[in-house]
Amino acid sequence: MSAETESPAQPYDQGAWWRDAVVYQVYPRSFADANGDGEGDLPGVLSRLGHLADLGVDAIWLSPFYPSPLADGGYDVADYCDVDPRYGTLADFDALVAGAAAKNIKVIVDIVPNHCSAEHPWFRAALAAGPGSPERERFIFRDEPNNWQSVFGGPAWTRVPDGQWYLHLFDSGQPDWNWRHPDVVAMFERVLRFWLDRGVAGFRIDVANMLFKQDGLPDVVPGSQGGPLTPGHTSMPYEHQPELLELYRSWRKILDSYPGDRGAAPACTAPACTVAEMWSGHPDQARPYLSGDGLAQLFGFGLMPTPWSAEEFRTVIDASHRLARETGGSLPWVLGNHDVPRMVTRFGVDQDLVRAPTPEVLLGRMDVDVELGTRRARAAALLLLALPGGAYIYQGDELGLPEYLAIPDEARQDPMFERTLRAFIGRDGCRVPLPWSGTAPPYAFGAGGTRLPTWLPQPEDWAALTVAAQRDDPGSTLNLYRAALAIRRDHPALGDGDLTWLDAPPGVLAFARDPGFTLMVNFGAEPVPLAWHHDVLLASGPLEGDLLPPDTGVWLA
Ligand code: GLC
Repeated sequence: MSAETESPAQPYDQGAWWRDAVVYQVYPRSFADANGDGEGDLPGVLSRLGHLADLGVDAIWLSPFYPSPLADGGYDVADYCDVDPRYGTLADFDALVAGAAAKNIKVIVDIVPNHCSAEHPWFRAALAAGPGSPERERFIFRDEPNNWQSVFGGPAWTRVPDGQWYLHLFDSGQPDWNWRHPDVVAMFERVLRFWLDRGVAGFRIDVANMLFKQDGLPDVVPGSQGGPLTPGHTSMPYEHQPELLELYRSWRKILDSYPGDRGAAPACTAPACTVAEMWSGHPDQARPYLSGDGLAQLFGFGLMPTPWSAEEFRTVIDASHRLARETGGSLPWVLGNHDVPRMVTRFGVDQDLVRAPTPEVLLGRMDVDVELGTRRARAAALLLLALPGGAYIYQGDELGLPEYLAIPDEARQDPMFERTLRAFIGRDGCRVPLPWSGTAPPYAFGAGGTRLPTWLPQPEDWAALTVAAQRDDPGSTLNLYRAALAIRRDHPALGDGDLTWLDAPPGVLAFARDPGFTLMVNFGAEPVPLAWHHDVLLASGPLEGDLLPPDTGVWLA
């Protein structure tokens, strides 16, 4: 590891910009298409920055746009320091960073360190060089596989023609790096610097818990699950290895060596951040990363698998907020991303199915009450943006898009569909290209009125959900998000800080934030009296006089 790891970094600044930032996740293939080929691209993002500025977000996170054969939608990276021609060029990236900076929007990029693409030149060289070669040392080749399973289904090992097997915790097109190899460590340091030099404000770290594998690659004990992390013990032999903490400290040093005005991004005068993707079942797994001086943030994913229940939401909020308070760390809240069914749909089904999806649910075969799901998703948005700390918004959630469940099988692209032998329809339904205007697909997704089909089909019934249709409707979900973000920007109680739970009737969540702010969300079936307030700042749906109807949230002053 580089000399930069030797002196410990200081704890993170309590006033760092990212602690209360609202970040909008752009899935570039599905955001906006400037060259009219049916796939989104970076000039498309640039052309629609006005939407993001009007929305009022602080930063965007771009999911991968790097050269990739798209075995996993770009999370299979063939070149970490370039732009895939389908998305544009490095000059387009620079133009996007500069355009965003002009609107006071920072740009976070995705870094995918656990694995690359089978098309990465180092993996091709490893295949060509054969067993026992130094080229194979950069990956995890063995003569015999162990019993590890791919996160996407099926074995985590694939055999190559000379008889060896390589490890891929995800798709076979995503070989895992050997993080105990100095070339890998040095390469990622170069990658960080490459994007920092271009003015990025931070990195979202893909599957940040998995990079190092336990020595000897022991079999997973059948039936083992994620669990508390204690010294010398990890829940899975490919998760939470102790070297990770040291690695992230070394990355922190690199990020911190880029202070001040730099690169193409006049807006990015602050130290860059890291936000780590770690799906962990227990706060103790997250604690070591937050307590130290490595990662800036871990996504607070807990609300996504949580059914619509005041008690269960409160339990998750308490656990995450307590962890942040105890460690001084930061866990920005998340209600949606490109891996999870849209919240309109999650909240519009029988809520027992959120906790325990049945085989039918995995195939998208369930009754969805979109109207109910929309009401709840709007209330949840007010909760998300009132909680202490930062928040992430997934593209299209500001439009109240539901999951598109009826994508024909032959159009599905997520490798999970085939790797689970079609037992799970996969994640395409939340990755459908955004509807911008018009009354039928492609809803002006492509510039210049192109009518080429989008890379994933769009539903026929999204006319009322387009940005144009919602822009002038004061009751639209888009305008609810805009209003909430505008209030959040100015209100001294919102953003980072603390909350105080208020006594509320069963089924109601209510908390106060100082000075002078109250949130109430009615998860129950009956209207409840509004309390503790003088003024209604914002409501997610119509109020009934002094009553807060079911599935409605309100901000009170
Ligand atoms: C992360 C990404 C997901 C991807 C996986 C493998 O979980 O969010 O989309 O499939 O990593 O890179």
